[in-house]
Amino acid sequence: PQPNPLTPLGSEYQFSKQFLPTRFKKYMEQIENFQVRPDDVWSVTFAKAGSTWSQEMIWLLNNNLNFEKAKKRSLQDRFPYLEFDACAELMNSKLLKKAKHMPSPRHLKSHLSAGLLPKQVWTVKPKIIYVARGVKDLAISYYHHYVHMQGYKGTMEDFLEAFLEDKIFLAPYHGHVKDFHFLRNEENVLFITYEEMKTDLMAVIKKTATFLGKCYSDEDLKKLEEHLTFDAMKNNKKVNFSKYLGYIKMYTRVTRAFSKNANGKESWSFMRKGKIGSYKEEMPPEMIERFDNWTTEFNRKNGTFIPL
Ligand code: A3P
Repeated sequence: PQPNPLTPLGSEYQFSKQFLPTRFKKYMEQIENFQVRPDDVWSVTFAKAGSTWSQEMIWLLNNNLNFEKAKKRSLQDRFPYLEFDACAELMNSKLLKKAKHMPSPRHLKSHLSAGLLPKQVWTVKPKIIYVARGVKDLAISYYHHYVHMQGYKGTMEDFLEAFLEDKIFLAPYHGHVKDFHFLRNEENVLFITYEEMKTDLMAVIKKTATFLGKCYSDEDLKKLEEHLTFDAMKNNKKVNFSKYLGYIKMYTRVTRAFSKNANGKESWSFMRKGKIGSYKEEMPPEMIERFDNWTTEFNRKNGTFIPL
């Protein structure tokens, strides 16, 4: 990890390390030296924190609420995922190259931890919007993602144990949030939570618009709020990853992603539950207690407010 270059007087703060597959090594130099532009807008999140939801909000706010354009192009196209080439090597996506040549203003998504983002992020200082989410909901959502999008065949219990040991892809979750919580008062950083979006989406929309330097009428913002509801997102093919799931089917043998329900329809959707507290339906009480103790202890030691 590098020392935090954003803090005046060179703080002793060290960014967290991140658990990534070895194949990432091939791409990390390109990512580290990726040229950042001042008018880029970055969405940085841990997986399952509400990345897709916030990206659609950010993109529309920064594109004059151009719903027509958003309906024509997939979010993955409009808002490429910086390290996708490394995540899904088989798909040979060349997204990094594409991102390099995209016209400004670019919208870029990353799940990398602060210390692994391109170096220029800290000198050029593009706008960065970070979304954190309650750990237990995120972990359960991530388990389902592992099963349906990554072909995980293990048990939920084993997955949750690995989560607690910081041994899942992108871990540690706490450290990922901690770094951006530390940076939350930087002028170019907006730190929000999934829970805030769920409880008062309009307030988050307005806060994000102000952060992006945009001003819209209440009527227009209401349209955006409707566009961002769970059901609207779930039914919106340009954001719900249905096309991407098709690619997974082509390039991998992730059969569980396509298990059919009684109506012959795919039984899993990327927009799965979209709730606060849905972990209660699946996480055993003893595991809930362990997760809560783990996060409470982390928050106490680090002065963070990571939602339980
Ligand atoms: P669940 O699996 O708990 O339902 P990401 O985009 O970072 O992978 O996050 C995915 C999570 O965000 C999923 O959580 C998904 O349902 C939720 N999500 C996506 N759009 C949403 C919306 N409009 N409202 C609420 N939750 C949403």
